[in-house]
Amino acid sequence: MRFVDIINKKRYNEELTDKEIQFFVDGVTDGSIPDYQVSALLMAIVLNGMNERETSYLAKAMMHSGDVIDLTSIEGIKADKHSTGGVGDKTSMALGPLVAACGLKVAKMSGRGLGHTGGTLDKLESIEGFNCFLTEEEFKKQVSEVGIAIIGQTGDLVPADKKLYALRDVTGTVESIPLIASSIMSKKLASGSDTILLDVKYGEGAFMHTIEDATKLAEAMISIGNSLGRNTMAMITDMNQPLGNTIGNAIEIREAIETLKGHGPKDFTELCMQAAEIMLMQGKVAENKEEARKMLDEVVASGKAFETFKDMVKAQGGNVDMIENPELLPQSKFKTEIKSEESGNVKVLHSERLGVLAMQLGAGRETKEQDVNHAVGLELACKRGDKVNKGDTICIVYHDEELKPQWVDELYHAFELTNEEVAPQPIIEKVLS
Ligand code: URA
Repeated sequence: MRFVDIINKKRYNEELTDKEIQFFVDGVTDGSIPDYQVSALLMAIVLNGMNERETSYLAKAMMHSGDVIDLTSIEGIKADKHSTGGVGDKTSMALGPLVAACGLKVAKMSGRGLGHTGGTLDKLESIEGFNCFLTEEEFKKQVSEVGIAIIGQTGDLVPADKKLYALRDVTGTVESIPLIASSIMSKKLASGSDTILLDVKYGEGAFMHTIEDATKLAEAMISIGNSLGRNTMAMITDMNQPLGNTIGNAIEIREAIETLKGHGPKDFTELCMQAAEIMLMQGKVAENKEEARKMLDEVVASGKAFETFKDMVKAQGGNVDMIENPELLPQSKFKTEIKSEESGNVKVLHSERLGVLAMQLGAGRETKEQDVNHAVGLELACKRGDKVNKGDTICIVYHDEELKPQWVDELYHAFELTNEEVAPQPIIEKVLS
């Protein structure tokens, strides 16, 4: 097989066979196909796409390019969830313990943040001693015994994706539904869970800007998951404003704890509860939404959801005192309140801009090599639709260095007010299966 023939086929919008896709993935993994040829095929896929069969086969071939975790030794159905990334997205920290407290086994591998979106591992590492890097055996043991573990990638999972993503990043070939879907799903499939719930975000702070594009990506990922025997569902959710009221690391842990105790922000709580209902039904722990909601309300009211989070933190070496007394979590040196200079209703909260501003405080990283500052971040004192009066605090900034006037100005303009009523928008637009 000559790789140039495969490039030409896709260039002329022809369908690739399983053998040709396998040849591509093998050649990427063992380095036998040069980067310039791989890049040419990637661009042809961006321009001409792939059908369902090609996309599913690509995901399958990528999944098998490295280690595949076998979770069958853990009793029961193992569940996973994945978010396509957002600003203020602390869902795993609340949703995981919620469903684990109801008896579902949660085996979750997460990543670090880059750019305007944060990463679950960075947030969890705000907790002193928290170990994100368990061995495969430790990971399985913890999921069996505690019901949940959230860790970084273990083993050599999907090496083909590492090489492809690095090339896509520098060749303008990231934005392609078959490439994004196969990249995300190959990693989810290799992580070994039986069920997968995808949180596909749309809006300003998301990969997909419109509901239509988010739906197409979700459908491509569901088709991959189901074709490989995993019960896969997706929620299309709003990222036109940050999720919850906090953006940062330690402050997002505090918000997740509040939510597990039943005092979380409305949008974030709603997202977690609806996602948890779906996961409990996928995992056959509950038969229907009503039964699932009843179980969830009970584990919140009894404190079991919060206890499960504490158990996970303890099992992974974290300082549980910080969970019981969140004021012990890293604290910034300074706290500055930003006041509104006008009255009105909040029309827009620019999530991408807020994510970048939080990153510039030190809460995120611009390049993979940077460290994050766990103490700094933003607390939103208003959300879309809220009424704000002149002089009200709109945002609290937690910072370790003096704020630059230009940075404050940009923060101020991330909040847009109007005199008109602002129509409510649901956090979950739709659920797909
Ligand atoms: N996240 C991934 O893991 N892969 C993509 O291609 C895009 C987002």
